[in-house]
Amino acid sequence: MPDHLPILQITALPELRNWRQQRRQQQKKVALVPTMGNLHSGHLKLVRKAQQHADAVIVSIYVNPMQFGANEDLDSYPRTLAADMQALAELGVDAVFTPSTGTIYPRGLNAQTYVEVPQLSDMLCGEKRPGHFRGVATIVCKLFNMVQPDIAVFGKKDYQQLRVIRTMVEDLSLAVEVIGVDTEREASGLAKSSRNGYLSDQQKQAAAAIYQQLQTAAGQLQNGAGITQVEQEALGRIAAAGLEPEYFSIRRQADLSPAQAEDAADSLVILAAASLGTTRLIDNLEVDRA
Ligand code: PAF
Repeated sequence: MPDHLPILQITALPELRNWRQQRRQQQKKVALVPTMGNLHSGHLKLVRKAQQHADAVIVSIYVNPMQFGANEDLDSYPRTLAADMQALAELGVDAVFTPSTGTIYPRGLNAQTYVEVPQLSDMLCGEKRPGHFRGVATIVCKLFNMVQPDIAVFGKKDYQQLRVIRTMVEDLSLAVEVIGVDTEREASGLAKSSRNGYLSDQQKQAAAAIYQQLQTAAGQLQNGAGITQVEQEALGRIAAAGLEPEYFSIRRQADLSPAQAEDAADSLVILAAASLGTTRLIDNLEVDRA
């Protein structure tokens, strides 16, 4: 008896193209769920959403060096392929694409043509992580071209990433429908993330302050509080909880430009980033009308 469920693992481009061609001939709608592995329940939620919208689901697992800065956690980023394959097999995923860096960047990272979404890529997380969203847009564009999915599913936890990808799809007229899925959370409210694995239990409790402050800020906005005041108070409370806040910013959902007093509350999103030790955490909350 094999100790794991069988699942199709594709590593090479010709095999991937062949798999895709067969699905096309069978007139099957294909959904792609791009990931960097170390799958948790948030990723599995994306897969289930993909299964609702398509006949065949392919998950890519690739830790993309182009989206990591020089001093970031590329080398230590958790790689758990066997457990990931098992979880995807249990969900009945049709195929998993696990390319090597040689397949993705055959001429090397520095020689690689890239995709950059201007403005959106430079604000918020992009200020602290220059080049990050260029790396994300480039790999996602490449994965779209390699897999040629009808649909692609991403988590709303990476809200700015999702906005960058949607803009790239529009700007480059890519024939992919992008679906965003609500963030999966711990009981404390902490957004599920592969990087939570770097936190102690005590740090996880402290990190829940980010979501608590997002909720408090949403309530304040709905009650008519001023934007700057809400942002400043939240930054103070996140610092008081023992985190190092990077930004807490109320933005327009459509283009992530700074919110204005006259904006309707339900067109806004609040985005936050903060560090705990060496771990950087992000979260966000779309504001609904009360
Ligand atoms: O969100 C992620 O896991 C990554 O940024 C993505 C979209 C898979 C691109 O590497």
